Amino acid sequence: DWTAENVVETLVEQVREQIGEDRVLCALSGGVDSSVAAALVQKAVGDQLTCVFVDHGLLREGEAEQVEQDFVEATGVKLVVNDAKKQFLEALDGVTDPEEKRKAIGREFIRALERAAREVVGSAEADGHPVKFLVQGTLYPDVVESGGGEGAANIKSHHNVGGLPDDLQFELIEPLRSLFKDEVRQVGLELGVPEGIVWRQPFPGPGLGIRIVGAVTEERLDVLRRADKIAREELTAAGLDRDIWQCPVVLLADVRSVGVQGDGRTYGHPIVLRPVSSEDAMTADWSRLPYDVLAKISGRITNEVEEVNRVVLDVTSKPPGTIEWE
Ligand code: XMP
Repeated sequence: DWTAENVVETLVEQVREQIGEDRVLCALSGGVDSSVAAALVQKAVGDQLTCVFVDHGLLREGEAEQVEQDFVEATGVKLVVNDAKKQFLEALDGVTDPEEKRKAIGREFIRALERAAREVVGSAEADGHPVKFLVQGTLYPDVVESGGGEGAANIKSHHNVGGLPDDLQFELIEPLRSLFKDEVRQVGLELGVPEGIVWRQPFPGPGLGIRIVGAVTEERLDVLRRADKIAREELTAAGLDRDIWQCPVVLLADVRSVGVQGDGRTYGHPIVLRPVSSEDAMTADWSRLPYDVLAKISGRITNEVEEVNRVVLDVTSKPPGTIEWE
């Protein structure tokens, strides 16, 4: 019988056996897979696991806290936070091309992870238990997609850990590699991972960096974060979270349009709502959200985010549009 309880028990046994007395490292992203994988390894080997969270400053409102506080409290993992917000902003300074942004973010991510990993590896060596393993939240569909091979070649480039230097190469622990996404969620709930993480919709590794069309600045991130928070609040309040695949909220930072508010003329930026329905993100359709929900989101964003004077809805399917704007 498939029950989350049985699966947890079996996987915990396997992980324990594989790791033995050695130390293990896990990079948390705030997403479902890495969180559940970390919680499982924590249950198996406790403090032999150290999690690293790179705070790149490109997350949405409340997401860093969700990892640093809620997740840590719920699971008891030992967490090292690498605050790299400044470095990421510098690396993104003036960068407008989407692929250049991804490259800059990927590069900084590896640097930050490397710094944090060296610290953990150094202190583990000092007490005689080297870090030998790296946890990956690889799922069964990822295994199938990449041909089922073992090892580092398996890591998808967007998982962002493919570029560690030679002296920081680890054996991989992939405790979720026999599971589908819905099973991972059940296992996560069984392990006490916070529901906000377990049910999180897909969110791209480069985060809000690829949801600002134009250069990324701290001010623009702040505007987008406030607008995104409102959209997420209203979608949740309307009970739509499980109906839509994800809803990117995009700031057109270099576009301005004229508006009127009170008796003043405004010249602000548009926010794009991109709600989509999908099975696997390969294709998608725009979600037919109820008009009253759209009206609420639009009204609140233009009232509460003064830099924004227009909210537009993206009604493009994929193809030809991608889900993200960049
Ligand atoms: P697109 O925009 O290609 O997105 O239709 C498909 C899915 O992938 C996510 N996405 C990314 N995830 N790094 C990621 O980790 C990326 O660079 C990236 N770009 C897009 C997107 O959110 C959607 O779920």
